Amino acid sequence: MALINFHNFSFRYKGNENYALKDINLEIEENKFILLLGETGSGKTTLIRCMNGLIPQFYSGFYRGSVAVKGADTSKVPIADLSTIVGIVFQNPENQLVSMNVEHEIAFGLENWGFPREHIRKKIKEVSELTGIKTLLEKAPFEISGGEQQRVAIASILALEPEILILDEPTSNLDPYFAEKIITLLKELQKKKKISVIISEHRLDLILPLADEIILMKKGEVIQHDEKKKVLNGDIFKDLDINKPFYYSIFHTLKEKGIFDEPLPFSLEDALKVIKKKL
Ligand SMILES: Nc1ncnc2c1ncn2[C@@H]1O[C@H](COP(=O)(O)OP(=O)(O)O)[C@@H](O)[C@H]1O
Ligand SMILES: [Mg+2]
Repeated sequence: MALINFHNFSFRYKGNENYALKDINLEIEENKFILLLGETGSGKTTLIRCMNGLIPQFYSGFYRGSVAVKGADTSKVPIADLSTIVGIVFQNPENQLVSMNVEHEIAFGLENWGFPREHIRKKIKEVSELTGIKTLLEKAPFEISGGEQQRVAIASILALEPEILILDEPTSNLDPYFAEKIITLLKELQKKKKISVIISEHRLDLILPLADEIILMKKGEVIQHDEKKKVLNGDIFKDLDINKPFYYSIFHTLKEKGIFDEPLPFSLEDALKVIKKKL
C-alpha cells in the first residue's frame, strides 16, 4: 500500500478564484527520498498541507477528490492522529515553536503522546546530537537564530519518528554549512530507518545527488513524478523555470549539440567522472 495517495484531488483556498491544486493523482511509496520541485506559486506548500490533513481540515476552501495516508482519509481522521505517521517541518519554523525552551520544545510532542520520561530523555539527547543543537537546549526559541530554529523544528519532528518526514524548503534559513549537514542527515536517516522523506528544495546542487524520485509541479499540477534519472533526462525538467545545477546545463547543451549521448550526470562528482572518462 502507498504511504500517501492523492486521487483526482483539486483544491482552492477560500477567497481565491484559482485552484491551487488541479486534479492531482500521486502515490508516495515507502522508503524513498523524494524531491518536490516547482516554481514559486506552483503549489508545493499546498500539496504538503494536504499530506497531514491541514487541507481540508484547517485551511478553508473547496476540494474534490481524496487524499489518504496509509489508507486513512485525511478529511476524516483527526490531524493529531495523522501526525503520528506524517511529520512536517514548515517553512517558517518560528510559528511552529511553542515552548519555553528548546528542550521542552522537543519533549512537547512526546509528552502529548504519553511516552515515558526515560524515552523522552533518550530522544532529546539523540535528536539534539543529530541536529547539532545540544548547546541550545536551555535557550528560548526567540533567543536563537533562524537557522537554529529550523534545526530545532527538525529535531522536534524527528523525535516523534514519523514514517513520512516532509520538509518545506528546510534550508532557506540555513547557512551553506548547516544546509549540507541537514540534507545529509536527512538522507542518512531515511536510509537507516527506511522512512520516506519529501523535500521541497531549491538547492539542487545539494539535493539532486541524494534523491530517488522527483515530483515536478507547475501551476497547481503534478506534471511529472518519476525516478530521478528519467526526470532529469526528460524534456519537462529541461523546460521548467528553476535554477538548475551548472553541470546539468553544460551536459544538456552538449547533448543537444550531439556531442554527448549518455544519461546526464546528477552530481558534480558524477559530472567530473564523465569528463575524466572522455579526456
Ligand atoms: N493560505 C492561502 N490562502 C489563499 N491562497 C493561497 C494560500 N496559500 C497559498 N495560496 C495560493 O495557492 C497557490 C500555490 O501556492 P503555494 O502552495 O504556496 O506554492 P509554492 O509553495 O509552490 O510556492 C498560489 O497561487 C498562492 O497564492
Ligand atoms: Mg512554498
